[in-house]
Amino acid sequence: METKGRGRGGGYPRAVNHDRQAAAYDRNVADESHPVRAGYGACLDWVASHVAQGERVLDLGSGTGNLGLRLPPCRLTCVDVSAEMTRIARSKLPRHAILVEADLLAFLGEPCGPFDAVVSTYAVHHLADPAKEALFARIRAALAPRGRAVFGDLMLENAAAREGLFAKYAADPSVADSIREESYWDVASAVPALERLGFSVETRRFSDLSWGVAARLG
Ligand SMILES: C[S@@+](CC[C@H](N)C(=O)[O-])C[C@H]1O[C@@H](n2cnc3c(N)ncnc32)[C@H](O)[C@@H]1O
Repeated sequence: METKGRGRGGGYPRAVNHDRQAAAYDRNVADESHPVRAGYGACLDWVASHVAQGERVLDLGSGTGNLGLRLPPCRLTCVDVSAEMTRIARSKLPRHAILVEADLLAFLGEPCGPFDAVVSTYAVHHLADPAKEALFARIRAALAPRGRAVFGDLMLENAAAREGLFAKYAADPSVADSIREESYWDVASAVPALERLGFSVETRRFSDLSWGVAARLG
């Protein structure tokens, strides 16, 4: 069961806060035998590979800091609405990392940046689709001229794939309910939404349910 966060995203539903999952989170994601977690490590590594040493980087929904730990030395700002996830991240990340406890849409709604890269793993699927599009526009505004937005998350290729995966996992409610109840990305919709904002987009599949999307300006 997830608790509701304090932050507000400027008219969008309240953030999904992982305070109650925090203590067990790192142990859970280390077990990739469950289809929802399959590919987690490879996906984070792929997102991290898009960041260069010394860059200004924003990690959205940074959780316990697992993506930040994989980044090269950089000027890292992490945003997460969960105090408990942020407390664990603080104990793992370099001292110079800036950790902000806030709703990610609200954070990007205030003047911030510019960032060379905005990265995010397994967080944006908590936003409904209209909020995802608002997020893309706010990220675009916070990026430096040749900046990147790189995501790894629970995503489905398109509507047909969604139906196929419901069928594949019909006997496993822990997967079927997750697909039904959370806002898994639709890659086929997200790519043109990012392209309309001027990004060139590359995608990578990591498992049945997880993909990476790398969007570049310039
Ligand atoms: C599944 S965890 C992923 C954590 C981490 N990025 C990782 O890859 O392990 C999702 C994180 O997003 C945070 N989150 C969800 N919605 C958020 C929002 N609207 N604003 C800020 N943080 C949010 C949760 O508190 C949680 O820490």
